Amino acid sequence: MTQDELKKAVAQAAVEYILPKLESDTIVGIGTGSTANFFIDFLAEHKALFDGAVASSDVSAERLKKHGIPVYDLNSVDQLAVYVDGADESNAKLQLIKGGGAALTREKIVTASADEFVCIADQSKWVKTLGAFPLPVEVIPMARAYVARELIKLGGDPVHRRGCITDNGGEILDVHGLNIEDAPGLEAAINQIVGVVSNGLFARRPADVLLLATETGVQTLRA
Ligand code: 5RP
Repeated sequence: MTQDELKKAVAQAAVEYILPKLESDTIVGIGTGSTANFFIDFLAEHKALFDGAVASSDVSAERLKKHGIPVYDLNSVDQLAVYVDGADESNAKLQLIKGGGAALTREKIVTASADEFVCIADQSKWVKTLGAFPLPVEVIPMARAYVARELIKLGGDPVHRRGCITDNGGEILDVHGLNIEDAPGLEAAINQIVGVVSNGLFARRPADVLLLATETGVQTLRA
């Protein structure tokens, strides 16, 4: 199977996973990226079953609106039953690296607001140790060089993602060369650097469920 076929398979499995949870007043948290896009497209077939969505990016919000799914501001919503999003890497604890699409901060906010975080990924994202995928860090633009120097002290090799401005007006440093044994510790340490908006480690709040598309089917994994 191609990677896109695996992404479609896991997106369809995610729709089936959340269908029993949908009620007329349910608002679904929706992530960002190509896997999330497939999920949006499949979910749209069931739009009559739920109220609407909160999106983790302007791009996802536009896609939802094109399908006729109402998009809510998170500030107008009390609690999200479920958040569905992709990832760049997952380990067996369902700790993730996210942010390949530069939406990490909003993804983290929506994750924090959700009762259940369902991560959807193809098998290429499954790793023993996080860090082969460069860790995205969103920074306030004027702090970029300072934060980069601090990230070097933490053992990383930060590279400015040129031309990328996030939905929040931030910039992205992609940190190469990390072999992340203590993901919650590193997540907290990076958050302590002045000028960091957020980082792409989802370890203090990992996924609750990982739907992982493999050649032999979609596996449902819990930590
Ligand atoms: C965007 C993300 C995505 O979930 C991650 O990059 C995976 O993307 P894709 O589904 O296209 O492989 O974190 O910020």
